[in-house]
Amino acid sequence: MSLILGLNAYHGDSAACLIRDGELVAAAEEERFRRIKHWAGLPTQSIDYCLAEGGLSLGDVEHIAINRKPGVNNWRRLAFVLTHRPDPRLMLQKIRNIRHASSANEALEKVYGISLKAQIHHVEHHLAHLASAFLVSHFDEAACISIDGFGDFASTAMGFGRGRSVTIDERVYFPHSLGIFYSALTQFIGFPHYGDEYKVMGLAPYGKPNYLAQMRQIVRVQPDGTFRLALKYFRHHTANVSYSWNNCAPEVGTLYTERLIDLLGPARKSGEPLEQKHKDIASSVQAMYEEAFFALLEALHARYPSPNLALSGGCAMNSVANGKVYLRTPFKKMYLPAAAGDAGGAIGGASYVLSMIADGRSRLSLDSAYSGPAFSDGEIGKLIETKQQQITDAGCAMRWIVNERELCQRTATAIAEGKVIGWFQGRMEWGPRALGNRSILCDPRRADMKEILNARIKRRESFRPFAPSILREAVSEWFEQDDDVPFMMQVFQIRPEKRSLVPAVCHVDGSGRLQTVHADTNPLYHQLIAEFSRLTSVPMVLNTSFNENEPVVCRPEEALDCFLRTKMDVLVLGNFFIERQNQEAIA
Ligand SMILES: [Fe+2]
Repeated sequence: MSLILGLNAYHGDSAACLIRDGELVAAAEEERFRRIKHWAGLPTQSIDYCLAEGGLSLGDVEHIAINRKPGVNNWRRLAFVLTHRPDPRLMLQKIRNIRHASSANEALEKVYGISLKAQIHHVEHHLAHLASAFLVSHFDEAACISIDGFGDFASTAMGFGRGRSVTIDERVYFPHSLGIFYSALTQFIGFPHYGDEYKVMGLAPYGKPNYLAQMRQIVRVQPDGTFRLALKYFRHHTANVSYSWNNCAPEVGTLYTERLIDLLGPARKSGEPLEQKHKDIASSVQAMYEEAFFALLEALHARYPSPNLALSGGCAMNSVANGKVYLRTPFKKMYLPAAAGDAGGAIGGASYVLSMIADGRSRLSLDSAYSGPAFSDGEIGKLIETKQQQITDAGCAMRWIVNERELCQRTATAIAEGKVIGWFQGRMEWGPRALGNRSILCDPRRADMKEILNARIKRRESFRPFAPSILREAVSEWFEQDDDVPFMMQVFQIRPEKRSLVPAVCHVDGSGRLQTVHADTNPLYHQLIAEFSRLTSVPMVLNTSFNENEPVVCRPEEALDCFLRTKMDVLVLGNFFIERQNQEAIA
């Protein structure tokens, strides 16, 4: 038996996973337990969950993989210090980060009060990213790339995967980073929080890339397909921009300099009105990212002319750019992990160690993201008993529906009636997306559904689109490209003749960030959408994460609390169908 614990620790989106005998037992992000978005630190609650799922204790674990390798790229670090003479506080911060990564095992021993017998493996950050895609894909061989903020002094890594092996042979080093470019411009447009970049991606189609010439002054694509940042516009290499990682949500200081204001005009402050200029800058940022992204992919394919692409790193969350890969590059098939960002380094590091120790099965194959906690009807029933008074006070009626078909039919009918459904089933998703187990579901046919959702629950920026979950077998009929997109990582154009049929999931540019729902990996969700399709001839539902300005719900308590404090119409909690009786009808 081989037992491997994988960790992303002291980094945003800290997370843990457990692999036993070549099978993924469990994987979860710490933010879901701590209830703080992007929580960074030592992910003890995720570790506890993974070990409990496997019926193990930390002392049983034979290998611990950590997705950082102190000491790697040290010559590059030294050369940078000698040539740039950065702020000593920046140096101290970096040394502290390295110390944290290298002492995770000591921290574990202290917290758990044991002496670890496990062998500790520090896997270079980008190698873990590459492994998180290639080593869990079906590919026998693939060109691999990680595009990121930073990790182990590099922002981008290219390499190749074959069989059990994945290697890096080209890197873009600190301080040049497409992730930092996108984050700095996200701050400039007035979205200051860690992880806000997706807002710029959502805003971009409302603008025109009128600032692309200025963006090309900031990001310089090189003849070899790599890139450089014009450093005068950035602060991250000279000042301490205060990434805070320890036992809290990450916070980031201002990444750009006054020179960026000279170039683009005043920055938008958070909360100020979004003007056309800001939308144009967002469009230009996305256009620049895509220009650099496709230059990298062209260079990668020239080096490794494989039809297969394994793509990961924080920038691989750019589902708009990902959706254009088949249109703009020679790659014919791609694999993107459910957690392309740093959480994914837990599975990446662990799968890399699995490939090295090579006993028995030596590669995972991850088609599904359902690797988090699940709760039985017995556990949910007990919760409902304790909350019975609140449920009654909220004017709810409740049924226990054991028959899955009836549960799906009743839920599909409620969706078709325009109701907002909280859908809590099975194991929680790994990665940032709700994929039909911790989701809020609605009717995609209703043009007003976005406003209804925002008014009642989500309260998010009106420009951000909602996404469709579509039956896998219906993709080609509704979208202009046809591919497996199980983790909602690609945006495709909806066929023009279909757009008016699903206005709630069609973005302003005619695109949709689809999730393909497969009968073999999520049969209940597939059945629900099939029932909705039978009623409406539309084989998709609107799917947004089950939360209200918080991490996606993990436990039934959080789902029930979210349902009771918002204006959701129905909560389907396992087999419990809870419906508000006194809600104003939307129709
Ligand atoms: Fe990373």
